[in-house]
Amino acid sequence: MIAVNEPLLDGNERKYLLQAIDSGWISSEGPFITEFETAFAARVQRQHAIAVSNGSVALDAAVVALGIGPGDEVILPSFTIISCAAAIVRAGATPVVVDCDPLTFNMSAAAVAARITPRTKAVMVVHLYGLPVDMDPLLELVQRHGLKLIEDAAEMHGQTYKGRPCGSFGDISTFSFYPNKHITTGEGGMIVCNSPELAAHCRSLRNLCFKPEQRFVHEELGWNMRMTNLQAALGLAQLERLDEFVARKRRMGQRYTELLAGTPGLQLPVAQTAEADNIYWVYPLVLDDAVPLDAKAMMKALGERGIGTRPFFWPMHEQPVFRKMGLMAGESHPVSERIARRGFYIPSGLALREEQMVTSAQAAREVMEQAMSATQEHAHV
Ligand SMILES: Cc1ncc(COP(=O)(O)O)c(C=O)c1O
Repeated sequence: MIAVNEPLLDGNERKYLLQAIDSGWISSEGPFITEFETAFAARVQRQHAIAVSNGSVALDAAVVALGIGPGDEVILPSFTIISCAAAIVRAGATPVVVDCDPLTFNMSAAAVAARITPRTKAVMVVHLYGLPVDMDPLLELVQRHGLKLIEDAAEMHGQTYKGRPCGSFGDISTFSFYPNKHITTGEGGMIVCNSPELAAHCRSLRNLCFKPEQRFVHEELGWNMRMTNLQAALGLAQLERLDEFVARKRRMGQRYTELLAGTPGLQLPVAQTAEADNIYWVYPLVLDDAVPLDAKAMMKALGERGIGTRPFFWPMHEQPVFRKMGLMAGESHPVSERIARRGFYIPSGLALREEQMVTSAQAAREVMEQAMSATQEHAHV
């Protein structure tokens, strides 16, 4: 089986991990945490970085730190991971979703503008699958309406928008270091911001809101979302190689596009927009409407040929958990619905080798050609 995501861990990862183990510092108190936070903040041009245990809880902290709660609405894309909407719902606020672009999969400022109400408190912008959201009109919109901006840059390590790092735009921005990301700590996340007050609040939320002067007396509920020194050791080694990893992912994306060009029925990812070149978080494919298979059938056919795949996100407005809560009831966001059913990605990890890419692309082409010729035969009968 060709793994869908295999990370590259052959830099200083082993060396730094051993240093952490040999030093005895394995909890969140160890020195790699500060080193990783400082290096990461510099990389995304932010004043503060707070390392946490994953990218989902980073969003929880961001929402709470910005004072979002009951009665507030937060606008976000429907096509995203549940972590985004879950953070809003857990804080007692209401998620208000917008549809996305069929080619970049990203939300637009125009869609957000259409859903602003007097209760709107914030926008949660999510850059997806390797291309940034068009930020200028969105920044103008949030400024005009006095809204907070949370930027989920979980998939955007090393990406820029008009030359400015993704993760530098939000009042608070967040990242994930899950192994399918451009840099990984196994599990992990980062919160970044410029405000010392927000940074202090996020640090407190990360650590159960212990009070410095009276440790076990709490004025607010936090979480234990601390990252360990072991994870930060990995993170620092990975961060040293971010430029190399981005260049490698770009080459991989271009290579897949060469190998798959002209395959009937397949929408390949957009290589670039006016604002950025794709960093190919993963290599996503969307089946044209004319293809008689959906993503599920296609992934099954590829699995039978030893090719690992993953489906696209499932829209927030179609989530049973939110339906049960009466959220987003009766909404329709056709692009999100369509790409969720017709989109999937093929092996995309940094450790993927040329011959594995050739095998994966060939398998995808064969399955598509078979599916399309079966339709044509059917049409002739
Ligand atoms: C856009 C986006 N936001 C948030 C997350 C959550 O990060 P984690 O898996 O580290 O909790 C992910 C993914 O994994 C993601 O892709």
